[in-house]
Amino acid sequence: MKTIIEPFRIKSVEPIRMTTREEREQYIRDAYHNLFTLHSDDVLIDLLTDSGTSSMSARQWGALMVGDESYAGSPSYYRFKSAVKNLMPFRYLIPTHQGRAAESILFTLVANETHSIPNNTHFDTTRANIESQGAEAVDLVIEEGRHPETEHPFKGNMDIAALEQFIEQRGVENIPLCMLTITNNSGGGQPVSMENIRQTREVCDRHGLPLFIDACRFAENAWFIKIREPGYQDTPVVDIVREMFSYADGCTMSAKKDGLANMGGWLAMNNEEWATECRNRLILTEGFSTYGGLSGRDLEAIAVGLEEVVDEDYLNYRIASTQYVASHFMEAGVPIMRPAGGHAVYIDARQFLPHIPPLEYPGQSLAVELYKQGGIRGCEIGTAMFGLRPDGQEEPAHMDLVRLAIPRRVYTQAHMDYVIEVVTEVFENREQLRGMKFVRQPKALRHFTGRFDYIDS
Ligand code: F0G
Repeated sequence: MKTIIEPFRIKSVEPIRMTTREEREQYIRDAYHNLFTLHSDDVLIDLLTDSGTSSMSARQWGALMVGDESYAGSPSYYRFKSAVKNLMPFRYLIPTHQGRAAESILFTLVANETHSIPNNTHFDTTRANIESQGAEAVDLVIEEGRHPETEHPFKGNMDIAALEQFIEQRGVENIPLCMLTITNNSGGGQPVSMENIRQTREVCDRHGLPLFIDACRFAENAWFIKIREPGYQDTPVVDIVREMFSYADGCTMSAKKDGLANMGGWLAMNNEEWATECRNRLILTEGFSTYGGLSGRDLEAIAVGLEEVVDEDYLNYRIASTQYVASHFMEAGVPIMRPAGGHAVYIDARQFLPHIPPLEYPGQSLAVELYKQGGIRGCEIGTAMFGLRPDGQEEPAHMDLVRLAIPRRVYTQAHMDYVIEVVTEVFENREQLRGMKFVRQPKALRHFTGRFDYIDS
């Protein structure tokens, strides 16, 4: 069969409130042209993030009822632990309320101002947690991963030669660990090949460095390995996942992505000394070591989510639905980051709107227009987000993108057809879009709370 259907039926629905363009123009003005300030019930299709926005299955909702809320030693923790260990067999497992809490606990322990931590590309919260310790976060993704138009099956790969050189120059004593983010979210949701994970491991072994995986989208990465990497076509996804983690010494995880849960995360590792210290920190900041920042029912939902996320029919549908949107965009000539990533399609706003210079935030202008035109909420990832330097100067970000992140099991193909239609319409009228400016901005993380308006208003 050519048609790939959503491998689920819908038992419970949430209404989408229809709005007119006039109403949306008012809502976005009231929100100072910042999509984070909108009320989400004024959004028709919410593609702001794939994080914590998944639909849970009937089995997950059922599992919530057996969640055991004991403070210590809850059976829900042991079910969670066995589900994690089935895929990621690290010796020590530390639940946290979400991914960044795991990062914070890890880096307050292992990083200081003399340190650098290499990664293919650090996600923002990972970078921020490293930098808040005074350490340096270094991105060493392959060259292809830095160019939106370049096709490569594993654009998230680590540049192995650059890693080797970096370790030699920086000195292994200044590097507490090496990381790999799978899939590479900040680089467009691009996967990392098994060969590259293995080679990264070999470099780490030569220098005696621990390797940690940022595992948020591990199942999507495994599916890409299955369909794109020679030799894996007949390997069950579960075995691919286990092999991926067999090369690592630990991981940080946000269960809000490939945990198919609305909240949760963990830190896992083999180093006993680190694990003991991390547990002590966990108790200070998150909670006792058998619940982290979570309820027993959250742990149950994650345990079931981890079984469902490696289902191959689910993954086939998941990746195909992202590709579906991307291929229609390409057909219409809409410039996107290629090939499509796992969880999102990234529109190249700089190419989409060549008449708007980067310092007039083409990504923000496009994101606002997608909302006005069709009630679609995406996210600017570009100069509004990254252009402000700590010294207060502004410079264009490396790229100006609008990310349309697709929540798991939430929207149907008709919803995606609507997204394609809206984006195509906006593309046809792109000359009418105008540059924007900040009218108020905080000193850091300005994209969350800053206020925008049009340059010529
Ligand atoms: N690592 C990666 C690769 C991520 O994408 C995220 C979150 C985190 C770590 C942090 O996890 O949110 O549970 O604390 N990404 C979300 C996004 C927020 O929209 O891409 P968290």
